[in-house]
This record gives sequence, structure tokens and C-alpha cells, in this order.
Amino acid sequence: MTHYDVAYVRSQFPALKRTIDGLPVAYLDGPGGTQTPQRVLDAVREYLVDHNANYGGRFATSEETDAMVAEAHKAGADFLGGDPAEVSFGANMTTLTYFLAEALGRGLHAGDEVVITALDHEANRSPWLRFAERGVVVREVPVDLATCTLDWSAFETLVRPGRTKVVALGYASNAVGTVNDVARAAGLARSAGAWSVVDAVHYALHGPIDVRAVGCDFLLCSAYKFFGPHVGLMYARREATAQVEPLRLATQHAEPPYVWETGTLNFEGLAGTTAAIDFIADLGERHAALVEDRLSAGLKGRRRAVVAGMLAGEVYEQPLAKGLREQLAAIRGVTLHGPPEGSPRTSTVSFTLDGFTAGEAARALGVRGLFVWDGDFYAARLVELLGLAEHGGLIRVGLAPYTTQDELERLVAAVRDLSRSVR
Ligand SMILES: Cc1ncc(COP(=O)(O)O)c(C=O)c1O
Repeated sequence: MTHYDVAYVRSQFPALKRTIDGLPVAYLDGPGGTQTPQRVLDAVREYLVDHNANYGGRFATSEETDAMVAEAHKAGADFLGGDPAEVSFGANMTTLTYFLAEALGRGLHAGDEVVITALDHEANRSPWLRFAERGVVVREVPVDLATCTLDWSAFETLVRPGRTKVVALGYASNAVGTVNDVARAAGLARSAGAWSVVDAVHYALHGPIDVRAVGCDFLLCSAYKFFGPHVGLMYARREATAQVEPLRLATQHAEPPYVWETGTLNFEGLAGTTAAIDFIADLGERHAALVEDRLSAGLKGRRRAVVAGMLAGEVYEQPLAKGLREQLAAIRGVTLHGPPEGSPRTSTVSFTLDGFTAGEAARALGVRGLFVWDGDFYAARLVELLGLAEHGGLIRVGLAPYTTQDELERLVAAVRDLSRSVR
């Protein structure tokens, strides 16, 4: 296939048939959670109907569950680029990060330092900020507010060999789409002898992740942001897991990845997560010709197809997002917030509109079938620094592989109408 087949992609998502007051719904809320393809729905149902059991038993459904869980670890590894033993599952990214902070925090003492950023979602800030109560010094990398990018010269001075123990940052901002140079941050952490913790929740829908190339110790994401069920995933570098003691029951498996997985997992969610990764691989197989020149020769099997699928989405969405930004910028009263054109960013577009709080605008768009988010999306520090907290934050338009040009044109027309309604 030499073009991106958005009609095929859309045909996989039953939710896209939804209408509201006769208008088709445009799901522009992807950064809050994507829609779910049929194969994920089928996998969840099939697990619950045909294989539902706890694992480790000596009968068919339990053995099938063991095999399904092993397959989910393999799929997670194909998605992130690690080994199956380096990918564990949990309730969601936030809960996994609190668990991780508990494990890493045991080695932290008063006077040790942790580096977080002002750009991040609270899920990769609050778990580390808590250590201040114990005398740990939490340092925050500032954001250049004009470009919504991290201040890297400050970053370099804040990470201090021997003092910094954890460097926590996001792969991409869920509020404004900035993509950070996470390999550079992981390198800074490594040379200081600190752990690196990357929040890839927003990025995971927008580009291929290769944990080896990033070189981080831990990377977390959530399957519901890339077509799967509500399940969190964590990559933990094997050598890193060997050096920490996660909270676990005495009876729990002490080997990775199970050492990170407390209690009974959301098995139907894991079955659905594998199906979501297979869905991305299917997109990759269908669109391989579009991205062939960007696939390295070493990539094989499902990992290769997953990378191709992620790249195909990027190739499709990036021009749509650029066009959207241009059209929105031309509307009176619209102010875009995000990195400058040409710098790395996801296809998430955020703006404010004079005369409307973000909530008022989102509500007015919602009744027209244009589902966008408003607020701070838990990236509260950035929104506060941008001075937007009192105006309800940002209006956020999230593109996904199923978004169409028509939907974006409807959005632009609706924003233009709102702008004209202001005297
Ligand atoms: C960038 C980012 N990090 C973390 C989270 C939290 O993820 P979860 O809901 O899996 O805890 C979100 C959710 O919106 C997010 O966008």
C-alpha cells in the first residue's frame, strides 16, 4: 500500500459509528484515551468466555491463562523494544510509578537529589515530590514558556554526579505535544549514577519506542492510550531490577518481570493489550511500503511490524496536525501553545480562544460532535506557569490514526464560528 488507508483503519473501530444529535462523533480526545478496535474487543471477550482462570493451575483454562500472560509480555517487549522479562503490567502508569518510587525511594536519604521537570504530567512528579518530606531535595527542570520546551542547559547543571539519584521526565508532553530528547536525559542520569524514569504515556500513540536506544532504566506507558484496555506497562531494565527490591508478597515470584506484578493481574486487559499491539503490527504490515526507508535492517517479525505501524501513523498524522495548526492560527482570538514548527512534537494541538474558557469552548465543540479535552490534563505545573490555570487551561485536540481531514475541517469551522460569536 503506497498511501495511508484511513478508511481501513476506521473500519476497525466500532465506536466511530457513534453519532450525537445526528452528527458523527469526531474522537479528538485520543491523548485522554483512544478508541478500541474490534480485535481488542474480541480478545477481551474471548479471554473471559473461553479461558477465564487464575494462573499457575493444573487445568486447561489456567494453562491457557499462563500462555496468554507470557504472550502479553512478549507483545509488550515488541512494543517497547526490550525483552519479555523486562516488561511488567499493572493497573495504570500512575500506580506503577508509585510502586517504582517506593522501590527506588528505599535507597534515598536526606540530602540526596531527584530531578523532575515542569513540563510533566503529575504522574511522573508527585511520586518523586513526596520524598521531600524525608529531606530529599527535589529539583525541577524549568520550561522555556515561549517554546514549551525543556531548558536543557539548566537540566545539565541540575543533574549532579553523586548527588542526583533519580531523573524523571516525560517522553512527550500530553498538554502541548513537545517531544523531549529522552536519550539525552537518560545519558545525563547514567553519567551521574542516577536512575532514569521515562513517562512514555503520551508518546506511545505517536511514535515507535526503543528502550535500548533511549538507554533509560525504566519507561512506563498505558495500553488505553494506544487502542488497548486500561492496563499499565512498565519496562524495567533487567540490570536495574536486579538492584532494587520492589514491594512484593513473600509468596510472590521474585524473578522479573513478575517481581513487579503484585496480585492478580487484569488478565482480560492483558489479552486486549496483546491484541492492541497486534493491531498496530497489522497497520505496519499494511503500510510497510510507506515507511520502508525508516526501518532498520535489524528489525524482525512483530517488532518490525509494530515499528512500521507507529511510523505509518506518524507519517499520516504529522501533516494533518501541521495543517490544523496553520488553520487555527489564522482564526482571530486563537493562541496556539506548543513547540515551534520544525521541532519534535506529537500530533497533539493545544490552544486557547479569546472570549471562552477552555471548558466553555470544549462544551460548545462537544455538542457539535467534536470531542476535545480541556483543562490541564494533570500537566498542572505547565498550565500554571503558562498563566492559564485561571482561564480553565488549554483546549486540546488529539489526532489519532483514525482521525480524518474532514473531522479537522469541521473542528476548524466550529472554532471559527465560536470566534465570530465574540464581539
Ligand atoms: C503523559 C501522561 N503521563 C501519565 C498519565 C497517567 O497515566 P495512567 O492513567 O495510566 O495512570 C497520563 C494520562 O493521561 C499522561 O497523559
